[in-house]
Amino acid sequence: MHVFICTNDRTQTADHRPSCGPTITPEMVKEIKLWIRSQGLTNEIYCTKASCLGFCNPEGGVMCIWPQGKFIKGLTSVEEIKNIIQQEAEEAGLI
Ligand code: FES
Repeated sequence: MHVFICTNDRTQTADHRPSCGPTITPEMVKEIKLWIRSQGLTNEIYCTKASCLGFCNPEGGVMCIWPQGKFIKGLTSVEEIKNIIQQEAEEAGLI
């Protein structure tokens, strides 16, 4: 399973469209990667920091789960993302 998490941040640019950053930061993705490693799931779950995934929204960040092809938006915390990854991994029979 491959999880892509958008950290694109437009707040310091002239582009006023909503963006995942700074709500979701590269440091948060790093924390999630360390959590995946701590669970012993580095061969089952790949996690990659991504730029815009095309579902920008004012409620929060966006992640994509592959190969399920799911896009989840409105993310605001590491715990929320961990819970989604855990649930998807369980449904995929990885854990
Ligand atoms: S900025 Fe994150 S999906 Fe567009």
